[in-house]
Amino acid sequence: MISSFTSMATSVQSPPSSTSIRQIPGGYGLPVLGPLKDRLDYFWFQGQDKFFRSRMDSLKSTVFRTNIPPTFPFFLGVDPRIIAVVDCSSFSALFDPSLVDKRDVLVGSYMPSLRFTGNTRVGVYLDTTEPGHSAIKNFCIDLLRRSSSVWVSSFLSNLDAMLSSVESELSQKQSAGFLFPLQKCIFAFLCKSIVGADPAVSPEVGDGGFAMLDRWIVLQLLPTVGNPALPQPLAEIFLHSFPFPFFLVAGDYRKLHDFVAEHGQEVVGLAEREYGLGKEEAINNILFVLGFNAFGGFSIFLPKLITTIGRDNTGLKSKLRDEVRREINENETLGFEEVKRMELLRSTVYEVLRLNPPVPLQFARAREDFELTSAEARFQVKKGELLCGYQPLAMRDAAVFERADEFLPERFLGEEGKERLKYLFWSNGPETETPAKENKQCAAKEHVVATACLMVAEMFRRYDDFECDEGNAFTKLEKARNAVDAAAAAAVVKQNNQ
Ligand code: HEM
Repeated sequence: MISSFTSMATSVQSPPSSTSIRQIPGGYGLPVLGPLKDRLDYFWFQGQDKFFRSRMDSLKSTVFRTNIPPTFPFFLGVDPRIIAVVDCSSFSALFDPSLVDKRDVLVGSYMPSLRFTGNTRVGVYLDTTEPGHSAIKNFCIDLLRRSSSVWVSSFLSNLDAMLSSVESELSQKQSAGFLFPLQKCIFAFLCKSIVGADPAVSPEVGDGGFAMLDRWIVLQLLPTVGNPALPQPLAEIFLHSFPFPFFLVAGDYRKLHDFVAEHGQEVVGLAEREYGLGKEEAINNILFVLGFNAFGGFSIFLPKLITTIGRDNTGLKSKLRDEVRREINENETLGFEEVKRMELLRSTVYEVLRLNPPVPLQFARAREDFELTSAEARFQVKKGELLCGYQPLAMRDAAVFERADEFLPERFLGEEGKERLKYLFWSNGPETETPAKENKQCAAKEHVVATACLMVAEMFRRYDDFECDEGNAFTKLEKARNAVDAAAAAAVVKQNNQ
């Protein structure tokens, strides 16, 4: 399969510069009614994916005007008008700091109340031209560098605890849900790596910290995301019509804030001393990186990775298992160095990120009038207009990715595969670029991919096979034969010694 596959297209087409400028198709409709109709399509009649896809198809353009929620009646001051960009070429404009401003547009024109972040405008809301951005980005990059070894060991030990607990549940039932145990594992290892403290030192945070973060994230994002839990039109009335007040999670935030202040003194001190942040600014930024960026991102991505592999029946699992066991060093330890050698595993992780970008929407505002180029046309964008990139469509751009809708784990293997990485955008930038203070690319780009590889490698070290159902549950965890033999031998030795 790989040989036929390596002939894929790898370059983004651009229209000739002589092509005349096309007017951006689509529109915003009548005041109030236009945004309301688009909001109902987005959440109710079409859903997010069909919303973007159907407009791209009907307008015959990968750049078009539309409204997106939240809007009306209680989102005053939120302008729903956007220019959607849904192919690789036009999407790239979002990564060019000379063209676009990223101030306060993390989730669009709507920004959750600053009270959710302790009245601090945290780094992710700052544009690269704001002085605070450099300090916070550099602090975060430094934090990740310093915590690398703790990161690996605490991730693996928490993963071990999580897998042991789901194994024991699965031995008694047909299936064992892993979402909450995995979130607990993610939370514990991130606390250790980022705050420098084991959450177990505070029983309340140790047991319930992950659920506190879930509530805090959900309340900020509810107005912008579909919610299958509540039937329509109730979701429209109760979830998408007004911003949620912070007081509902104020107690949770206070507990997490105090945990960082008390147990993360070293890292807070580092932010104050070396990066000039105020104490509260440091705590709120650390909490945001931990809770929103890291915990939020991993909570979406890792379950998707597990279920994609766990449900695969094309033979991928045995190939991954063989590669993992071949590349593990003789001491049977795993680390970032070992997983770097696992090329199929890395390519699989990239392919899951391509088809399921964990943060599907990216926004940015035009700094000045500029010319936006899609694969087929050139458009004029006016200063101040808000661009919205819908990544799941851009990552299926047929001009760049052959058989773009298919899950092809080998896609990023070999020289041609590596070439394609410049069109992989999950981190808010090409996979071939490096996060820095000059850009808005995810500070943990390398850590995310390496951690994902580490998780799958550990699972194939431990299991010969695993399977998942249609939800986030394991239906099979088949222990590695040599591990079973070793455990049985250890049990015999123990018995003989008694
Ligand atoms: C699967 C996990 C993750 C995903 C999918 C993810 C994705 C992203 C994305 C898309 C952005 C850009 C948002 C925007 O401006 O539109 C971003 C920014 C950022 N991420 Fe991540 N991220 C993940 C994990 C992490 C982790 C583990 C950390 C740190 C420990 C982190 C730290 C940051 C920071 C500091 C920024 C802001 C960059 C800036 O302002 O220049 N992320 N991330």
